[in-house]
Amino acid sequence: MFRWLNKNEYDKDILSPSGHIKCHFRLKSGQLFYSVYKDDKIIIKPSRLGFLICGEEPLKDNFKLVRLQTKKHKEAVELMWGEDQVIDNTYNEVAFYLAETKSPNRIMTLRFRIFDNSVAFRYEIPPQPKFRRITIKDELTEFNLDLNTTAWKIPAYQPDRYEYNYEKATIYDLRHSVHTPLTLYTPNGFYLAIHEAALYNYGSMTLKLDDNHHLKSDITPLSDGTKAHVDLPFQTPWRLIMIADSAIELTTNRTMYALNDPPHRDFGWVETLKFIGIWWAMYVGEWTWAPGERHGATTEHAKEYIDAAVRLGIAGLLIEGWNEGWEGNWLENGINNKFTVATDDFDFEEVSHYARRHNIELVGHHETVGFIDNYERQLEVAYNYYAINNVHYIKTGYAGSMMLINGRREYHHSQLGVNHYQKTVELAAKKHICLDIHEPIKGTGIERTWPNLLSREGARGQEYEGGALSPSHACFLPYTRLLAGGMDYTSGILDLTNSVKRLATTLARQIAYFVTIYSGMQMAADRPFIYEERFPEVFKFIRDVPTSFAKTIPLAGEIGEYYVVARKDRNSADWYLGGVTSEEPRRIHINLDFLDSGVYQAEIYADSENAHYRDNPFGIKIEQKHVGCNDFLDLYMAPGGGFAIRLKRL
Ligand code: NOJ
Ligand code: CA
Repeated sequence: MFRWLNKNEYDKDILSPSGHIKCHFRLKSGQLFYSVYKDDKIIIKPSRLGFLICGEEPLKDNFKLVRLQTKKHKEAVELMWGEDQVIDNTYNEVAFYLAETKSPNRIMTLRFRIFDNSVAFRYEIPPQPKFRRITIKDELTEFNLDLNTTAWKIPAYQPDRYEYNYEKATIYDLRHSVHTPLTLYTPNGFYLAIHEAALYNYGSMTLKLDDNHHLKSDITPLSDGTKAHVDLPFQTPWRLIMIADSAIELTTNRTMYALNDPPHRDFGWVETLKFIGIWWAMYVGEWTWAPGERHGATTEHAKEYIDAAVRLGIAGLLIEGWNEGWEGNWLENGINNKFTVATDDFDFEEVSHYARRHNIELVGHHETVGFIDNYERQLEVAYNYYAINNVHYIKTGYAGSMMLINGRREYHHSQLGVNHYQKTVELAAKKHICLDIHEPIKGTGIERTWPNLLSREGARGQEYEGGALSPSHACFLPYTRLLAGGMDYTSGILDLTNSVKRLATTLARQIAYFVTIYSGMQMAADRPFIYEERFPEVFKFIRDVPTSFAKTIPLAGEIGEYYVVARKDRNSADWYLGGVTSEEPRRIHINLDFLDSGVYQAEIYADSENAHYRDNPFGIKIEQKHVGCNDFLDLYMAPGGGFAIRLKRL
């Protein structure tokens, strides 16, 4: 439905379908504002909207409303893989068609979608006379919050990209930019996350307190100091505010996916994957990425690992360090990395034939070290090389604090970085290749449209174990980073007391991660002999746990303290439960009333009463019993511990 109007002042409430969430749009003296309420309690105070445009008047001050279009939408969306098979896409939409009352008389549309658990909006700028290609100097979007709101932040514009520990702060402390999703707790009792959806051809949004003490978007700049160069028509990513009454409820918010398009082509060939890798042996110093006496990626090791994958019942094998470019200081020398030239001791064709004969999917590896010019020159041939050798998965990497694009140092999360990552996703889709991107651009739900983007890293993962990960880190992730989608955390490292990399977790906790940290490409990250010789009983859970779920039900948790979740397998009637706790031990009472009727065999892997991540990390109790939907489970999580449970329908 639409109406023609001609208003310089205008107020409109947009209610969510249930009426609980309200977004108020206000046009006042030609300026644009929005505010957000839940049950009439304020969440976002009146906040400015608009842009600064290079070489042009700001696009923010002289608007009138010429037309209003409203729409109701109700849809159940099916996702190809992930944490939930069906997500809700039900919202009330209002599009405000705006025009400037003064020269240059530009037009712009603001589109709001109000969901029962979220508010989303985006700017749409159509092509218009003398306004076809523009350079955005700044996006002025505010999220004006009570300054005493609690925030869980990681810093933006830092050398390790998203790989930082979460810190608790208030809005008042956010003088330096922080990444999204930014998770918040308001003084009037709401849990929020500010994020974005469908990030294409634009800098990633970070957030920062401005001089007026308003939290404001700070779009990652390009090296020329601007935010983005765009051709019109252009639409920004959706600005997304997730709203919940509890921290645990926040983790069920799937609006980010609802705001992305369905796939535009057939992705029936995409399959999620569990894999082992020629990988952790490098981290613990047994092997090296570079060729030499202890080179990891040799033909012989690859075949041994393929044999091990077959014995372990794991479908994939990652091989890092197989190509030319790892010699010397690889972080500095990566400008010449070659993505189609194997080292002398690695016969790529032989290995790929061997993998195929044994029905093992190889996960190829491209470490770009951020040298994008070098990588893009080889992209097409490098992906072809893998495709013709039956490699359908690639892990990419962008180590290094900046990218080198067109000879200039750019942020990974700038418009040019975003466009590079997108190029790899689209080319990979064309070649029927799935990606697991390390040092990625954050997730904004584009894997709904591009399901071959199976996973990302994009947070501090287990490569930081051995000192830089505290037990609380993985208790922050479900409420923060994982709101942006799955993560390759490289779970399942069971050699906990290794002298080079000692982990700050218990044994049960390592397998809990396969449930608490979702990933469409899930790595069983330890070396095969650890699984086969030392922990075959614990490994059974790693083999059993699926990589795609029909339904996810978070059961209990608090940010940074603990998280307990149940997930139903997509391909069977089985359920998987996982729990993790911080340094604090915890007892959890789980009501199994979410189960369908019938009897389930519970296979429980829990910390023993005397387990402790520091003194007794291997303390584990594995037991089995029969349970049904009227039963309860009482579980103990030791300091730095957790549990994993398979509920096998009998
Ligand atoms: C960082 C990635 O996160 C890690 O998984 C990889 O092994 C190294 N870069 C080398 O590519
Ligand atoms: Ca990394």
